[in-house]
Amino acid sequence: MIIAVDGPAASGKGTLARRLAGHFGLAYLDTGRTYRGVAAAMLAAAADLEDAHAAVRAAHDLDFEGLGTLELGTQEIGEGASRLAVIPELRAVLVKRQRGFAEEALAAGSGAVLDGRDIGTVVCPDAAVKLFVTASAQERARRRALELYGEAEGPRYRDLVEALELRDRRDRERAASPLRPADDAHVLDTTHLSADEAFFAAVRLVDKAL
Ligand code: C5P
Repeated sequence: MIIAVDGPAASGKGTLARRLAGHFGLAYLDTGRTYRGVAAAMLAAAADLEDAHAAVRAAHDLDFEGLGTLELGTQEIGEGASRLAVIPELRAVLVKRQRGFAEEALAAGSGAVLDGRDIGTVVCPDAAVKLFVTASAQERARRRALELYGEAEGPRYRDLVEALELRDRRDRERAASPLRPADDAHVLDTTHLSADEAFFAAVRLVDKAL
């Protein structure tokens, strides 16, 4: 079984996807980390983020297995990943490798949960269950600010709201695989849900699809 989990930045999709993978005994891939891994490699090499050739090379060289061990959570890497994600040639390489991960997990007899922006629409259009996890921009910024700074007010919080809105806009408006729910996705709005409530709602949706 493949479960696709998509949604905007800081919607809680990562936490939810990881928990679903644990609950159903499936492999897990955070595809955002693959874009972030390419961004980190390019930033470390001081490469131009608009250089499609360099991006494709970095995507081929990326060690998928080692991704979990890298520190990729910084604002700079997230911003770099979102800028790189508009390059169709880069997306083609990463999508192919992400599909490979899903196919290997299926071949091993279990399956996988993949989370990102285009899993249900492009990477795994035949996924058994597709979830599109959202929350209001304010709520997403509030959660991210609490996580990063322990407070959700003041200038750092306002900067975060702006940065999130910019990334959302870039992800929604790009020509290559823009962020949007697949036609057959279940939209899960977590604005007024706790992490547990979102998880139980998702488990019910998956159980129903089995
Ligand atoms: O989810 P995360 O914030 O780690 O993703 C970083 C960036 O990578 C996103 O802003 C998005 O532009 C890009 N991305 C994507 N497609 C995916 C996963 C991430 O375009 N499947």
